[in-house]
Amino acid sequence: MTRLLRIDPARIDEAIIAQAAALIRAGELVAFPTETVYGLGANAFDERAVARIFDAKGRPSFDPLIVHIAAPDQLGEVAQPVPPLAQTLIDAFWPGPLTLVLGRGHRIPANVSAGLPTVGVRMPSHPVALALIRAAGVPIAAPSANKFAHTSPTTAQHVLDDLGDRIPLILDGGPTQVGVESTIIDLSGARPQLLRPGGLPLDTLRCYAPDIEIAEQRARASRDDEAMPAPGMLPRHYAPRARLTAFASSDDAALRFALLTEALAFIEKGESVGLLLANEDRPALAGLKNAHIVTCGSLDDLDQVARSLYASLRDLDSYGVTVILARLFPDSGVGLAINDRLTRAAEGRVHFVSG
Ligand code: TXA
Ligand code: MG
Repeated sequence: MTRLLRIDPARIDEAIIAQAAALIRAGELVAFPTETVYGLGANAFDERAVARIFDAKGRPSFDPLIVHIAAPDQLGEVAQPVPPLAQTLIDAFWPGPLTLVLGRGHRIPANVSAGLPTVGVRMPSHPVALALIRAAGVPIAAPSANKFAHTSPTTAQHVLDDLGDRIPLILDGGPTQVGVESTIIDLSGARPQLLRPGGLPLDTLRCYAPDIEIAEQRARASRDDEAMPAPGMLPRHYAPRARLTAFASSDDAALRFALLTEALAFIEKGESVGLLLANEDRPALAGLKNAHIVTCGSLDDLDQVARSLYASLRDLDSYGVTVILARLFPDSGVGLAINDRLTRAAEGRVHFVSG
């Protein structure tokens, strides 16, 4: 039985936090909200508790977890050394949606990091996450609280849909604010590398670390029994059940016409079609009958698009569509992360429409 307990982030109920923290200390799993997506947490010092995360998610053991801490001075328990650039980024961006990959501290069991000598660590900003880590008194290892390779959860209901009956407790702090996962920067090598674009825009990070390289498809060459630099970079990840194709263009009118044409062709073939659009696209496609249209925000407000992206994909799945046609968004700000997730959900099927 999975219990779901509501908790108001603005008025933390310490009795609920104490129950959740007791489960963590006892080696059990607790799902909890962070500002990005919901996490599935276990005591990061407890190898057996960590192993339960992999079981519950159906996650392969080569996919390392992120360790969450409640204060920058807890970092010493998890990682070392802390290079000067890490300290700069911590001062600027923690708490927040930034994960740093550093050398793994000796108290962190190898299975947290899939055997890698490094560890991903972040300090989330969500009050419920912070209260839980503090009360547990240990760092909390937590991947996104979804079935492996499925869309990340941005509400407690999403967690229940994926992991119901596999975990004892979900803390329901309402929908998450950022909506896509943290940005991951690897600082363990000679040059800082972006392993995954996320909630903290790369443009913002580059003000502090101009020489960040983009790690391209480093996961591609790895074998099943080896740890990968960032399995979040697997092509099929963040995927809905329906077959998704993404569309990109510098010309919005051409993009909408291509979406309309493609949707009609699929409907003609008897497919059930879902469209993932920006608010601005709706008038041009409103005439389309027999398609499920979901808009996830304005082209001028990519933060809103990120916030509703995963729920929009889950909505389309719940309508039972067999095909999803999704537009890509401007690459600025959090748009880079939005487009990364949509491209992965599309397993690389991206149509570039000329204007
Ligand atoms: O926003 C987030 O980061 C959310 C919330 C819950 O904090 N967590 C999250 O975890 O997205 P997960 O497990 O879904 O993705 C973690 C990613 C994986 O792709 C993993 O490979 C990468 O972080 N990662 C973790 N430790 C790493 C390491 N030592 N080296 C390279 N990549 C690492
Ligand atoms: Mg995940």
